[in-house]
Amino acid sequence: MIKKTDLTEAYGLVHLPAKVALAVTEKPKGGYNLITLEWFMRTSIQPPMFAISIGHTRYTHECLQESRYFNLVLPSVEMKPLCAMAGSSSGREIDKFEHGKVQFVWGKLHKLPVPKDAVAVFECEVVTQVRSGDHTIFVGEVRYSWANPDKKLLVYT
Ligand SMILES: Cc1cc2nc3c(=O)[nH]c(=O)nc-3n(C[C@H](O)[C@H](O)[C@H](O)COP(=O)(O)O)c2cc1C
Repeated sequence: MIKKTDLTEAYGLVHLPAKVALAVTEKPKGGYNLITLEWFMRTSIQPPMFAISIGHTRYTHECLQESRYFNLVLPSVEMKPLCAMAGSSSGREIDKFEHGKVQFVWGKLHKLPVPKDAVAVFECEVVTQVRSGDHTIFVGEVRYSWANPDKKLLVYT
């Protein structure tokens, strides 16, 4: 029977399994950063858009205020260690591309890295942002898409 409870119990029943993504951004002083994300979604068919929700304390938040581009990366199963690392360390302290030995090709929009092992990558330009409590929702319009049909999508369980 359904009962009134707290958010933690209710959300705990539904939040896994979940797709995760990585977002690539440009660091203000040079280089690139990666963040692991669970809070992302497609928000428009035409033009195609994705939204990502980024905590105010994240280095990625700082990066996106300076450079209005991100690559949304849907990772393959072999990228699980990279997602763990990018979700537990900050680009303020380490170079996650170097640390994770990420192989990439250069994107076409703002020349952000496109990881070679990804299942899909969407090169986005931020067109609007909305404050949402302790996060900011950055909405990006997709300019270029990449796909790797041989790879299997990573799902967190
Ligand atoms: C599975 C997973 C999902 C996450 N989802 C989000 C998210 O949607 N938004 C967010 O701001 N942080 C999320 N995080 C936390 C960030 O990835 C983490 O704080 C990261 O170290 C921030 O890196 P940065 O400081 O280089 O930006 C998630 C972490 C994990 C492991």
